[in-house]
Amino acid sequence: MKKILVTGGLGYIGSHTVVELQSAGYDVVVIDNLDNSTEEVKERIVSISGRSIDLVIGDVNDQTIMNRIFKEYDFYGVVHFAAYKAVGESVDNPIKYYENNVSGLITLLGAMERHGVQNLIFSSSCTVYGIAEDLPVTEDTPIKSAESPYGTTKIIGEEIIQDYAKHKNIKTILLRYFNPVGAHPSAQIGELPNGVPSNLVPYITQTAAGIREQLVIHGNDYNTSDGTCIRDYIHVVDLAKAHVKAMTFADKMTSSVDIFNVGTGDGSTVLEVVQAFEERCNMRLNYRIGPRRDGDVEQIFADTQKINDVLQWQTEYDLHDMMYHAWMWQKSISRK
Ligand SMILES: NC(=O)c1ccc[n+]([C@@H]2O[C@H](COP(=O)([O-])OP(=O)(O)OC[C@H]3O[C@@H](n4cnc5c(N)ncnc54)[C@H](O)[C@@H]3O)[C@@H](O)[C@H]2O)c1
Repeated sequence: MKKILVTGGLGYIGSHTVVELQSAGYDVVVIDNLDNSTEEVKERIVSISGRSIDLVIGDVNDQTIMNRIFKEYDFYGVVHFAAYKAVGESVDNPIKYYENNVSGLITLLGAMERHGVQNLIFSSSCTVYGIAEDLPVTEDTPIKSAESPYGTTKIIGEEIIQDYAKHKNIKTILLRYFNPVGAHPSAQIGELPNGVPSNLVPYITQTAAGIREQLVIHGNDYNTSDGTCIRDYIHVVDLAKAHVKAMTFADKMTSSVDIFNVGTGDGSTVLEVVQAFEERCNMRLNYRIGPRRDGDVEQIFADTQKINDVLQWQTEYDLHDMMYHAWMWQKSISRK
């Protein structure tokens, strides 16, 4: 059985990807420093998939640990999630982000090189497109200079991989995620709240659960159908499955690096998301319209032709499913 190392595999997207890799027949080893996750997630993954995971609690920046695990296991490939992701925090503490997100990648590439592991999937983001002039964005849409140190770490990560791949034998797929939301349909794994959410869907579910008093929608005077911002929301399970498709594709790659947008191809306004939540979960949400928020892009959504054609990947879940699963997950963690 092919063995995959998943860094940050107890986190939000990582945990869902571990489940999908296991159900596709891969053996999974996770390294996670529990900075934004808990060990309990391991038991939950095992309960969903019915398969065990080898968990190493440690930091990807720790060369000694990385060497030890690459020596111990014969990895077929690596999926690299371990990173910090809070845009606001990155503005306050850029060094923390450069150190973890950029140095972590470099340490990982070093370990892969020393141990002859070639296949890598890297978590990138649509943030690299900034305010795109033409929509939907394709993989050829120009990269813009980032709006935050977090965004910078994704651009630098992509550049390091592209440069490294010119000189060394590596097969890397850069997946540019749009807006991952929702949770596993079992409601056993999902996004763990970390303070006041800055993302829409956790804010919606926390408001519905009474943890937040009211959702404030940041601006309704944008040039969109109802004046609120447009994003391309993607169910985290669909996103997880894209990683499995990418890992399968690694062997067939003709270039050393390939890039795929991972979104649905459909943009939804903030009000459409709220409406989908209200309809599917049969609840009224307490919200009001507030002023625009600095740094928000008016609209962005993906052209998904490439991932649909090349990786033969399609989404299975719609916006209503995303809202329902996010709500089931919120209810399960609120009960604790
Ligand atoms: N969630 C999103 O909206 C989104 C969008 C685009 C890209 N991404 C990227 O996807 C990846 C995963 O995101 P997520 O939402 O699952 O985040 P997450 O915080 O839920 O998961 C990251 C996991 O990595 C672990 N981790 C962090 N630094 C580590 C280190 N140095 N060593 C070992 N483990 C470490 C954390 O404990 C956590 O379990 C990140 O690289 C993120 O930048 C996320």
